[in-house]
Amino acid sequence: MLSIDAYRDIFLSHLKQEVIVRDPENLYQPIDYILNLGGKRLRPVLTLMTADLFGRKHQEAMKAAMAIEIFHNFSLVHDDIMDDAPLRRGKQTVHEKWDLNTGILSGDAMLIVAYQFFEHYPAETFKELAKLFSKTAIEVCEGQQYDVDFEARDDVQIDQYLKMITFKTAVLVGAAMKMGAIVAKASPEDANAIYDFGLNLGIAFQLMDDYLDCFGDPETFGKQLGGDIIENKKTFLYLKTLENLPSAQAMQLHHLFSITPEDTSDKIQAVKELMVSSGAAQQTQKEIESYTHKALQILEGMTIEASKKAILKDFAIALMNREI
Ligand code: IPE
Ligand code: IPE
Ligand code: MG
Ligand code: MG
Ligand code: MG
Repeated sequence: MLSIDAYRDIFLSHLKQEVIVRDPENLYQPIDYILNLGGKRLRPVLTLMTADLFGRKHQEAMKAAMAIEIFHNFSLVHDDIMDDAPLRRGKQTVHEKWDLNTGILSGDAMLIVAYQFFEHYPAETFKELAKLFSKTAIEVCEGQQYDVDFEARDDVQIDQYLKMITFKTAVLVGAAMKMGAIVAKASPEDANAIYDFGLNLGIAFQLMDDYLDCFGDPETFGKQLGGDIIENKKTFLYLKTLENLPSAQAMQLHHLFSITPEDTSDKIQAVKELMVSSGAAQQTQKEIESYTHKALQILEGMTIEASKKAILKDFAIALMNREI
């Protein structure tokens, strides 16, 4: 197995060779823009790595890795519309740079293009990949709908939040890994175990994303800080803060999440202070550690070489400590 950086470089050089732009340019240019805007390339790296992990050449998983990364970027284009987000990876979001209709249609096309990448595989593998992909994609839609529904609700429970992030984010991380396992023809037990590893890692990943949305470094984060607070997102951070606060302060937080001020900076500041003073910020860090450790326990239980396990373990720990 190679290093994470090596897999990322291999993926990026393949991505560069894929020619996306053709006529009509207004459909394909935004696709080219978002795909080449940077990003961590976490999911395709996991797909390539997992193929190697189960004894097959990572190149064989390249088309599946492309499908996963294009689907991920499609979900970001539509997510940014839904979240009214101005910034992505430090640059304008697609619907800001072009317009809403462009974001919708280019996003739709990306979903189809993602599917087409599975056509490179023989029938049996194609079927397995497409089946997993369809299941995953519909779960992501369900997760995204919960996320939006929760904005307007004030009775969201932590287990409902966990289900929501499992669907909108974690299943894709699990599927990215399972696709590597499918291409490598790993046993169903191994394929499912690596899916569960990815799933728990994905939950930790979204908890961290929510944390960074509030407390990330504006220089490196690449998204609008406080965006989740502006949109009244019911994150773990928010729900824990509410749970921890005495009732007078909890009422204050409820109130802050029911208003949409012209200038949002005071709202963001006030909410962040409550998140820290209530202990919820620290509890979120603990929760991230706990899901990362769950993932690592699953990895421990698998019968794969120790040196390969070590690479995945380092990756999981690096994700837990990430700043972007
Ligand atoms: C952003 O994903 C969306 C979430 C699921 C939190 P990433 O943080 O992996 O985004 P990029 O691709 O690195 O920009
Ligand atoms: C995004 O969750 C999940 C999907 C795109 C499916 P977020 O809305 O938190 O992602 P960011 O923070 O915009 O990247
Ligand atoms: Mg968003
Ligand atoms: Mg969102
Ligand atoms: Mg986020």
